[in-house]
Amino acid sequence: MSSTIQRIGVFTSGGDAPGMNAAIRAAVRAGIYYKKDVFGIMQGYEGMISGDVVKLGARSVGNILQRGGTVLKTARSEEFKTPEGRKKAYDNLRKEGIDALIAIGGDGTFTGLHKLYQEFKMPCVCVPGTIDNDIAGTDYTIGFDTATNTAVEAIDKIRDTAMSHNRLFFIEVMGRNSGYIALNSGIAGGAGAIIIPEDGMSFDDLYAQLTSDERITKKSNLVVIAEGSKIGGANDLARKVAERSSYFDIKVTILGHLQRGGAPTYFDRVLASKMGLAAVEGLLNGVVDSMVGIRHNKIIFNQFDSVMNRPHEIDSEMMRIAKILSI
Ligand code: F6P
Repeated sequence: MSSTIQRIGVFTSGGDAPGMNAAIRAAVRAGIYYKKDVFGIMQGYEGMISGDVVKLGARSVGNILQRGGTVLKTARSEEFKTPEGRKKAYDNLRKEGIDALIAIGGDGTFTGLHKLYQEFKMPCVCVPGTIDNDIAGTDYTIGFDTATNTAVEAIDKIRDTAMSHNRLFFIEVMGRNSGYIALNSGIAGGAGAIIIPEDGMSFDDLYAQLTSDERITKKSNLVVIAEGSKIGGANDLARKVAERSSYFDIKVTILGHLQRGGAPTYFDRVLASKMGLAAVEGLLNGVVDSMVGIRHNKIIFNQFDSVMNRPHEIDSEMMRIAKILSI
C-alpha cells in the first residue's frame, strides 16, 4: 500500500448505534498497524468545526469493543450543512495535518462527507452505523442486529403480561422511515400483525386481521409498528381500534431509545471489526468518496452517489413470511 495518507481522522456522527465503538477500535488499530497516525474527532462534525481532536493509540481504544454508545460521542450538526461550517471544519483538519477521514454513521453522515470530498478533495470512507438498517448498498448496518435483539427481548416480555391479562398490545419500535427493525423483531417475536411504512396495509386491513374468525376468540395479541408507519403510530392505532370496538383491553408500549443502547451482539462486533478494517485498507488503496458495505457476507465499496438518499428495499419474502405466519 503506497498511499501518501499519513494522518487519519475517525469520527462518529448521527444517532449512536451499538457496535460503533467496535468500528472505532478496528479503524484505529488498523491505521496504527499500517503505521499511520490516527486521531479521534469528538462529537462528529461539531468537533470538526470546533477543532476537538485527540490522538488515539492502540491502547486508547482498549476495553471499548463490548460497550454500547460511542466513546467519540456524536451529534447532528446544523453548522456543517453550511459552506462556511465545512470550510471551518476543513481548516481545522488541515491544522492537525489530517489528510483522510473515516466516518461511522448513517445517511446524513455520508452527505456531509460527500460534500467535503467534492469541495476539498478530502479522501474519505464511511462505515454504515445506524440501528435503522436503512442504507442502500449494504445488507446490514452496524447496530441493527443489537437493536432488533433488544426489541425481540422486549416483545417477549410484553407477551408474558399480554397473555396473562388477555390484552392487546401495540408496540412501537424505532427505524425512522424504515421497517427493518419492526419486520424482523415482529417475525422473531411472533407478532399478530406488523405495520411497516413499506407495506400498503390500511387501518381497515389491520382491524380485519385482528378480528378475523380465527382470532376473535383471542383477545390477547401483539401488534408491532414501525415508528415510520403511514397509518399512524402505536398510540393512534390503539385509539382507533378502541373507538371501533370495546372488545379489546388495549395497552401501548413505545420502546424508544432503549433500542439504541446496550452491549453490541457478537454479529455487530464482528461486522464493525470487518468494516472498520476495510475502511482503512480501502483508503490506503485509493478508495475515496465511498461507503463500505457487506453483501452476501463479502465486503464491498459503494460510491456515495450510488447509495445516498436511496431506500434500502425490504425483502418481499420477509413480508410474505410475516403475513402467512401471523394468521
Ligand atoms: O436513526 C436512528 C434513530 O434512533 C431512529 O430510529 C429514530 O427515528 C431517531 O434516530 C431518533 O433520533 P433522536 O435520538 O435524535 O431522537
